[in-house]
Amino acid sequence: MTIDIEAARAILRANDRGGYTVPTDRLYPFQWNWDSAFVAMGWATFDEERAWRELERLVEGQWDDGMVPHIVFHAPSDDYFPGPDVWRTRHSVPTSGITQPPVFATALRHVFESARGPDAQARAARLYRCALASHDWWDRARDPEGTGLVAILHPWESGMDNSPAWDEAMARLTLQPMTPIRRRDISHIGAEMRPRDEDYHRFIALVDLYAGLGWEPAAMWAASPFKLVDVATNAILHKAEEDLLVLAGQFGSDAERSRIAERMARRAAAFAGLWNQDRRIYQALDLGTGTKVDASTSAGLLPLFAGIPDAHQAAELAAELENWLARAPYPVPSTSPLDPRFEPKRYWRGPVWAVVNFMIAEGFARYEHMALATRIRTATLALMRNGGIAEYFDPTSGEGLGGGQFSWTAAIGLLMTDQSARAQHGL
Ligand code: GLC
Repeated sequence: MTIDIEAARAILRANDRGGYTVPTDRLYPFQWNWDSAFVAMGWATFDEERAWRELERLVEGQWDDGMVPHIVFHAPSDDYFPGPDVWRTRHSVPTSGITQPPVFATALRHVFESARGPDAQARAARLYRCALASHDWWDRARDPEGTGLVAILHPWESGMDNSPAWDEAMARLTLQPMTPIRRRDISHIGAEMRPRDEDYHRFIALVDLYAGLGWEPAAMWAASPFKLVDVATNAILHKAEEDLLVLAGQFGSDAERSRIAERMARRAAAFAGLWNQDRRIYQALDLGTGTKVDASTSAGLLPLFAGIPDAHQAAELAAELENWLARAPYPVPSTSPLDPRFEPKRYWRGPVWAVVNFMIAEGFARYEHMALATRIRTATLALMRNGGIAEYFDPTSGEGLGGGQFSWTAAIGLLMTDQSARAQHGL
């Protein structure tokens, strides 16, 4: 079970812009938050120094309040909209004003545990502080009422930009954008695969609203018409807290360890409110209406990655996924093929993302559903072999779609190949 390792490494090298890796040339010309975390783990399979740099360059964008922005605009580019002039944030390396799923601490632990260099301790100690500040920010800014679960204030914060889970909340938005929309994405990629114009209007209307509030977290929380408890973000944060707690064992204080552990206990309990027994999956909560969003997406499987479900729920998730795969054989579709909103080629409404597969496979392995974990890993590598190292894949045909030569897909290819080699050698 492998891919062309040299080709995957060559993609990371080609997308390297000096210590940070762009997701792909042109379409995404800056450093993206969760992309870089996965990419750092990919670099760690063959270039330790470069893995550290990826994380270090990401936190050059970290704000004083602890937020790690979703984009760090290290160098100008005309290929992307919305650029720094639209975000109007105050950070000295220009950044966006929202965040993305916090894979950072998980990546940090991974890079640290595979590191051999003499400076690993010092580098990890410094980055531990950044990760802790980021998790403290999530707690303060995005769970101000102390429910245990954090909310996102923009669909882009979920990393799953056009998930059907956001449809209803987005449809309720009446805000108009002030900024003129100058889409660049559809000059690089076919419009039928990308978000629609009306979605873009709403995406930018939210950016304009928050920019008008000076990106101040309490004001944003109070004013936001889009406030969703995303399953993926909370699951990823929970896993990241678990990894942060391990790092805190070496680099943190007793007070920090108990703070992290308390948050984890609260969150693990609160996850019960996201479980939908009829649908056999976790679903998002819309804080605008106080109701669960009845959309079954790959996000709903991610609590496995964080060890949240009990054994019965894990078995239900496995059975639900088997149902999806009877309709769309290439795992894991981002939206259930049984959902009428399923579209196999459109952004986050059906296609397969390798990074999500990685986390779901880790999750099933954690629950000892080894056959399913192996099936997902083998299929992910096969998708790359046959469809190219693409941004995402059609779950009905396996076709590679979106941007090509994609960094985080290459990184997952390297990681999964590494994992399977280790498993073969009993490591
Ligand atoms: C898209 C994806 C997001 C990703 C970014 C760069 O916006 O939805 O998850 O981080 O592209 O790859």
